[in-house]
Amino acid sequence: MTILYSHAVKLPMKGVILSGGRGTRLHPLTKATNKHLLPIGREPMLYHPIRQMVSAGITEILVVTSTEHIGHVVACLGGGNEFGCSLNYVVQENPRGIAHGLALAEPFAQRSKLCVMLADNIFEYSIAPYADAFRRQDTGARVLLKGVGEPERYGVAALDEQHVVEIQEKPKAPKSAYAVVGLYFYDAQVFDIIRTIEESERGEFEITSVNNAYIKRNELRYNHCKGRWTDAGTFESYAEANRFMLENGNRILAHDDRPSGHLEGLIDD
Ligand code: DAU
Repeated sequence: MTILYSHAVKLPMKGVILSGGRGTRLHPLTKATNKHLLPIGREPMLYHPIRQMVSAGITEILVVTSTEHIGHVVACLGGGNEFGCSLNYVVQENPRGIAHGLALAEPFAQRSKLCVMLADNIFEYSIAPYADAFRRQDTGARVLLKGVGEPERYGVAALDEQHVVEIQEKPKAPKSAYAVVGLYFYDAQVFDIIRTIEESERGEFEITSVNNAYIKRNELRYNHCKGRWTDAGTFESYAEANRFMLENGNRILAHDDRPSGHLEGLIDD
């Protein structure tokens, strides 16, 4: 019997989309609505992380969102048929940080691998190659890095030749220009790790603390994020997200849409 390996075969991985928070940096746009229901290009922002996950073969997805807006979020997204996935919802009653929102996904995860995406992160190219790299990774976590002009706005990675040695959240003196973007892959250890982290000085349970715990265990891998990427949390970055999604008609590009050479260094397993 011949067993054929196919790239189309996807091992189970579930998705978590974090769309809680208060969106205060976009006031007054977010006074009456959830940031992630605002338009990006021709679609509500939340369509993007869902389409990204489906492009990577992730079709069981949990949306974490705020109490005030869950009705509108469900009205906007429904059960997932339109996207070719199944959508589940949970309320984060108080926005106490990204790791706090992720903790609510434990019953949904049932120990499967997770792809976690911040709902205000917009990627020009499909996240599929990164998800595949994590499917091949036995244990641990995986993050994506992007060179940026204002690293102090993000989680910033300090690197040696091969590894991320530390991540600092919004450092005043960044150790590199590499932002950790809002797409994370975790194994089932993540919930035990979240239980060990403490609130940061700004009073949040930071995803950066979770990633640093994986670094301490020597279990954090990374890829460089190819193509354009931005969050949409400030007026400037929101405008940038609109610009490139309008240019692409909200289409998520496949990596083979790029000239050859693009894939070089994409997966540094
Ligand atoms: O965009 C990438 C950056 O996102 C990373 O480089 C940082 O390490 C990470 O902390 C995060 O920084 P931000 O300051 O941009 O995070 P923000 O508070 O804007 O939250 C990002 C998304 O996470 C937001 O759109 C909704 C979700 N969120 C946030 C909080 C605080 C939740 O679902 N619940 C929360 O309690």
